[in-house]
Amino acid sequence: MSRVKVGIVGSRFQADCIAAAMKTMPEEGEVVAVASPTAGNSQAFAQRHGIPRAYQDYRELLRDPEIEMISITAPNRLHAQITIDAAEAGKHVVCEKPLCMTLEEADAMIDACGKAGVLLMYAEELFFAPKYVKAKQMSDEGAFGRVHLVKQGEKHSGPHSEWFWDVRQSGGGAVMDLGCHGIAFCWWFLGKQKVKSVYSHMSTQVHQARTEGEDEAITILEFENGAIGLIESSWNRPGGMDDSIEVFGDKGQTYADMLMGNALPTYSEVGFGYAVEKAATTKGWTYPVFEEHWNYGFPQEMRHFARCVRGKETPISDGETGRVVQEVLYAAYASAGLGRKVTLPFRPSGIAKPIDLWKRPELAQAAVAAAR
Ligand SMILES: NC(=O)c1ccc[n+]([C@@H]2O[C@H](COP(=O)([O-])OP(=O)(O)OC[C@H]3O[C@@H](n4cnc5c(N)ncnc54)[C@H](O)[C@@H]3O)[C@@H](O)[C@H]2O)c1
Repeated sequence: MSRVKVGIVGSRFQADCIAAAMKTMPEEGEVVAVASPTAGNSQAFAQRHGIPRAYQDYRELLRDPEIEMISITAPNRLHAQITIDAAEAGKHVVCEKPLCMTLEEADAMIDACGKAGVLLMYAEELFFAPKYVKAKQMSDEGAFGRVHLVKQGEKHSGPHSEWFWDVRQSGGGAVMDLGCHGIAFCWWFLGKQKVKSVYSHMSTQVHQARTEGEDEAITILEFENGAIGLIESSWNRPGGMDDSIEVFGDKGQTYADMLMGNALPTYSEVGFGYAVEKAATTKGWTYPVFEEHWNYGFPQEMRHFARCVRGKETPISDGETGRVVQEVLYAAYASAGLGRKVTLPFRPSGIAKPIDLWKRPELAQAAVAAAR
């Protein structure tokens, strides 16, 4: 069967990861166009990655008849509109995390794709990260007995682009940005069972001058079978990206450090080109990682999504996954606002962005009362 023709929306950090991932799987798909609003950026990106067509407006890309699937790597606040426009144009959608800003948007995205008969695939690469996949395989085999605690942490020194720090564009801080991975991960690892309750403690410890968002958070998920997910999200850890998991059951446990655990402990007085995402320096002791995209699972994820478009596989991460995460994000921010755990289902309407449930506890209070 022919290769899936892909268009990328956005031309910076995550767009680079997706374009590089696609190059590793030429038998399944290829990127044929990119769209990005800043003049010259999409052309430069296209040139760098050998992509034939570059547009400034993503709606032009959606009119490109060759494109079958798009990858949305634009800021969070744009995910819903781009997805709905893409569905109307008959394109399958891969949407970066978090799925969107609000639960209403999640519903609208799922509906639009359902009506148009296109796939909505949620780009949670932790479902494809080789170390984490191995941990899940062992767990599913029963290696750890009954798993009662799954921990995931993602921590770095803070985002690379200004919009992440502006909660009107991002929807929240480190939980919205990084915690969404941990929520999806614990849910997936424990067999996609229902989340019963969420408790989150959020604070802004270091970056008060730069953001209203939380830069430090601990979030606890209680699942239907009593198992616990514990998620640590931080924008305050210099030294390069840290992503790791721990799994505990009554018959065993496993630990996986995705990046540092796969790195070369290195000392250099003069430095070198690149160590790992978000590392500010390569001088002194550093942890350069090899096959960085592969360790994250980006090529494996995009290969799976391309195969889904061809009907060879069924999405293991879809719009529903993104909506589950979105509801837990709401509950996490509400919990931080109220200072206590919030039970699910928790689907308040009319919330402009998840962080409002933390900053305006009266909204969280009203939502909890309405959910009773
Ligand atoms: N899966 C992951 O691990 C991962 C990692 C990084 C980012 N992301 C997600 O990917 C998305 C993009 O993040 P990023 O780090 O690449 O941000 P970025 O700031 O590096 O890039 C954003 C891109 O979107 C483009 N853009 C802005 N407005 C647009 C519009 N109207 N139409 C089309 N493009 C537009 C910008 O020009 C830029 O090219 C975010 O939702 C983020 O959460 C996911």
